[in-house]
Amino acid sequence: MDTAQIPVAQLDAAQAETELARLSVLIARLNHAYHTQDAPEVSDAEFDALRKRNEDIEQRFPTLIRMDSPRFQVGAAVDNTFKKHRHLAPMLSLDNVFDQAEFEDFVKRIVRFLGLSPEQATALAFVAEPKIDGLSISLTYENGRFVRGTTRGDGTEGEDVTANLKTLKDIPLRLKGNTPDLIEIRGEVFLGKKEFLAINAAQEALGERTFANPRNAAAGSLRQLDPKITAKRPLALFAYAMGFSSKPVATSHWSYLEQLRAWGFTVNPLSTRLEGMAEAEPFFEKIAQERAALPYDIDGVVYKIDDLSLQERLGFAGRAPRWAIAWKFPAEQAVTRLLSIEVQVGRTGALTPVAHLEPVNVGGVIVARATLHNQDEIERKDIRIGDLVQIQRAGDVIPQVMAVLPEEGRERHAAFTMPTHCPACGASVERIPGEAVTRCTGGLTCPAQVVERLIHFVSRTAFDIDGLGEKSINEFHDAELVKAPGDIFRLPEHESEIAKREGWGTTSARKLINAIEQRRTISFPRFIFALGIRRVGENNARLLARHYGSFSVWRERMEAARIVGSEARQELGEITGIGTATADEIVGFFAEPHNQTTLDDLLRYVTIEDEVAQSGGKLSGKVIVFTGSLTTMTRPEAKATAERLGAKVTDSVSKKTDLVVLGAEAGSKARKAQELGIDTVDEAGWRELAGLPSA
Ligand code: IVH
Repeated sequence: MDTAQIPVAQLDAAQAETELARLSVLIARLNHAYHTQDAPEVSDAEFDALRKRNEDIEQRFPTLIRMDSPRFQVGAAVDNTFKKHRHLAPMLSLDNVFDQAEFEDFVKRIVRFLGLSPEQATALAFVAEPKIDGLSISLTYENGRFVRGTTRGDGTEGEDVTANLKTLKDIPLRLKGNTPDLIEIRGEVFLGKKEFLAINAAQEALGERTFANPRNAAAGSLRQLDPKITAKRPLALFAYAMGFSSKPVATSHWSYLEQLRAWGFTVNPLSTRLEGMAEAEPFFEKIAQERAALPYDIDGVVYKIDDLSLQERLGFAGRAPRWAIAWKFPAEQAVTRLLSIEVQVGRTGALTPVAHLEPVNVGGVIVARATLHNQDEIERKDIRIGDLVQIQRAGDVIPQVMAVLPEEGRERHAAFTMPTHCPACGASVERIPGEAVTRCTGGLTCPAQVVERLIHFVSRTAFDIDGLGEKSINEFHDAELVKAPGDIFRLPEHESEIAKREGWGTTSARKLINAIEQRRTISFPRFIFALGIRRVGENNARLLARHYGSFSVWRERMEAARIVGSEARQELGEITGIGTATADEIVGFFAEPHNQTTLDDLLRYVTIEDEVAQSGGKLSGKVIVFTGSLTTMTRPEAKATAERLGAKVTDSVSKKTDLVVLGAEAGSKARKAQELGIDTVDEAGWRELAGLPSA
């Protein structure tokens, strides 16, 4: 029987199910024809009637709503802000190299980590892929059906842009053939060069802002609130990496790429398996040759270890995998004139001279400002206002002034010197011997430092408060509404006042207050990062959070650590990745009474989530010491394995140690473990404990 003819009210459950399946496929096809191909197959009225029928059935049978229901397809209303979504497996970035020697160092690190013989080292197979200059996204499939697509975000949590991604023809809504129940697939969304130019031409014709480069245009197109706009932008996707998978799908990256193709993805056709590191450089040259003729922008070549079991052993260090590297093309350069030098004051008081330039096109991006770093750099390069300068930009790096070009018979300006007083607050500046940076001594009396700290505090990778950016922080600071972090959470008390401000209104004020309310709970690493302690970036924040677990423990330990030589101070110094200088900054931060007051104030409004030990970490919270020489894995690999399982690895045995792993010829640490009655295992025992196959 043809269910299409049955009125909604008369459908039974089985018929409703058949009908919902039919409508899902049909509406998807019509949507595609309308939005992507600009070739509608039915009238708008007919289309609307189909959607209405689907909605009515869903309303009668809510348990039958499908993952791929048309309600989630294009045309459906999307919230005006994107929902956040946590990745099942984190989305990493890549470390860069710029030449053959740096690439060889990368391979050497792998060889050392895995303890490979010279023969094994030369035979290491890689997969090389062009590095697409777009934005990475994660696609989740449940039982082969596309259920969610997210941006990379901070690597842990991204924005849900499913509705927009559904408009991409390169994203299959259903995978062909067998799939794991749950899998995340990663790839790069990008715009072709021609498509980019066409979009900019269209934007210009409409009097709208144009995009600086294809990547910005792709990002702007994907973050549209209206999927209809995204559908009009010819975004493409290359799939290239694996996220979480409920079951293994391949044993090598190369076969994984083949699997991706079989499922229906587009894999970059230039991807190549290399039989050894000797093939890396020739491949790089080949791609560099072809670069200009490619229909899309690339900024280098990505090399990945092919063997997935090696990838797993290598794991990652910080935010990047040890098993992959991006070999970038040399930076793009241009020549322009230096118009003036402005001195900016950063969040930590550092004074940075910034060059204002005659705008110039550098590899497709218009550059009007570049960093001059510091006084020493300016002197070394003898850069003066009015000079003709060579500038360079490499990927995401802020453009830099490289050198001055000689001009005959031209009178030059006097040499530039840093101001003796802070341009923002007038306090005197200081330069610590041995450091290149000049700093304002004004601390929190310096408005520039306060404002920069606040901007950092609300930024995307910190508190991530939508609608509160550089502009509004400056505005609220000038209006004396926000002078300290706690003030941000008191803004709701000023809602009506904000609504009355120029450029605001009740709706935008409400939105801002909502965004603030939503951020009253924050993860521990984000909170640490938001504090803006010098040398504590996202990476160190994560290390600290993982080590201390909760804010109260951390704070208590940091207060104890003020005593030089204390156990707490030693503990902080022993966290892998936290150097002495960083440890000093952290302790210094807590020693400052002003910071203590700020924290107390903030904690009245903010809940900090404890950092639970890594999932599946069977050694979670355990403190382990390795001693003696291991024969089946190198020390770095052993340490990385333990950390992956949630353990902390320290160098010295103390009462806090839970386990000592004894390699061959273990000496004093073994004795100390015995004295203190601490558990010990040999290497075989350790492998068993870590769930590794016995060697
Ligand atoms: S692999 C751990 N492969 O480059 C795996 N990334 O600089 C990380 N990218 O965030 C990604 N082309 O957005 C990979 N063939 C490729 C890539 C690629 C471009 C981007 C990606 C990543 C960034 C890191």
